[in-house]
Amino acid sequence: MKTIIEPFKIKSVEPLYFTTEEERIEALQEADYNVFLLPSQKVIIDLLTDSGTSAMSSRQWAGIMMGDESYAGSPSFFRFEKTVQDIMGLPIVIPTHQGRGAEKILFTVLSQDKKTYISNTLFDTTRANIEFSGAVGLDFPCEEAKNPGIPAPFKGNMDVVKLEKHLAGPEVKDVALVILTVTNNSGGGQPVSMENIRQTSEICKKYQVPFFLDACRFAENAWFIKQRENGYRDIPVKDIVREMFSYANGCLMSAKKDAFANIGGFLAMRDTDLAVRCRNLLVITEGFPTYGGLAGRDLEAIAIGLEEILDEHYLAYRMRSITYLSDKLVAAGVPVMLPPGGHAVYLDAKRFAEHIPVDQYPGISVVCALYIKGGIRAVEIGSLMFGKYDAGGQLIPAVHELVRLAIPRRVYTQSHIDYIAEVIIEVFNERKKMTGYKIIEEALLLRHFTAKLQPMD
Ligand code: F0G
Repeated sequence: MKTIIEPFKIKSVEPLYFTTEEERIEALQEADYNVFLLPSQKVIIDLLTDSGTSAMSSRQWAGIMMGDESYAGSPSFFRFEKTVQDIMGLPIVIPTHQGRGAEKILFTVLSQDKKTYISNTLFDTTRANIEFSGAVGLDFPCEEAKNPGIPAPFKGNMDVVKLEKHLAGPEVKDVALVILTVTNNSGGGQPVSMENIRQTSEICKKYQVPFFLDACRFAENAWFIKQRENGYRDIPVKDIVREMFSYANGCLMSAKKDAFANIGGFLAMRDTDLAVRCRNLLVITEGFPTYGGLAGRDLEAIAIGLEEILDEHYLAYRMRSITYLSDKLVAAGVPVMLPPGGHAVYLDAKRFAEHIPVDQYPGISVVCALYIKGGIRAVEIGSLMFGKYDAGGQLIPAVHELVRLAIPRRVYTQSHIDYIAEVIIEVFNERKKMTGYKIIEEALLLRHFTAKLQPMD
């Protein structure tokens, strides 16, 4: 059979909240044109994020009931720990309340000694936590990552030549950590090849710099390796995952993505001294090392989710549903990042809204138009999220102006996806009507979460 179907049936449902275009215009104005500030019941289809928005399975809900809420030594922790050890092959596992809890702890500890972090592309909270610890983050994406419209199999790769050049110089003394984000979220959800993971690891070993994976979407990345990299077609995803982690000294994980959990995260590593330092900080910020900011029931849900995500029927369906949306948009001439990523379709707002200059945030124009037209909530990954100012107060724009349509796991059906495509295509056909935006209020860090905006006249 050619048709790839959802590998689940639905036991419990929740309603969508329908609104009219007039209601949405008013809601957006009240939210100061920042969709993060909208009440979610004013959203029909929520593609803001794939994080914490998964539908849990009946097994996971059963796990919730099994959770043991002992403060110390809960069997739920040991089950969680063993699952991470078995899947990732990393011996030390430290739970945190979500990915950024793990980031805060790791970077606070490492930045005490060294102040540079190098990545294929750091995610926004990851970069913010690095900068907040007084360090700097450098992104070395590969060449192919620079053109959203030109497909390549592994656009998430690190530029290993640039990495080696940096580490071979005197600056190596200040490099705390190299991080590969798999898949590369801010770079379009694009995968990193096994070859690139291996090469990055070898370079790090040569210059004695620790190497971690930011592993939120590790299973989606492994699936892409299986589909696209020579020699992996017949290898089970779980073995590909083991190999990916075998090259790393540790990982940061948000369990809100590829563990189907609504909350949770962890740090895992091999270095016992580093683990002692991380746990010291853990107990004063997150909690005791056998729960780390989570309830026992959450640890159960994560452990079960980590097993479920490796189901190849699920991964085949997941990629098919993302490609299905991307194909429809491409057929209508909508500019998207190619090939589509693992958890999202990314619109290329620079080409979608060609008439809007980058200092008027074309990504925001597209996000607002999608919301007004069809109640779809997307997120800008462009100069509002990553732009900086120079000394004269001029915007230094981000490399890309993308709009991410993140697809929550196991939540929306094919007709929802058809509706999403229809809305986007209509907005694209009327794109000349869109105007740019200006910021009227913003925070110093992670400004996209709270910024207030206004349409240009
Ligand atoms: N790293 C990456 C690559 C992420 O995508 C995220 C979160 C984090 C770290 C932080 O994890 O949310 O559990 O604290 N990404 C979400 C997103 C928020 O929408 O892409 P967290």
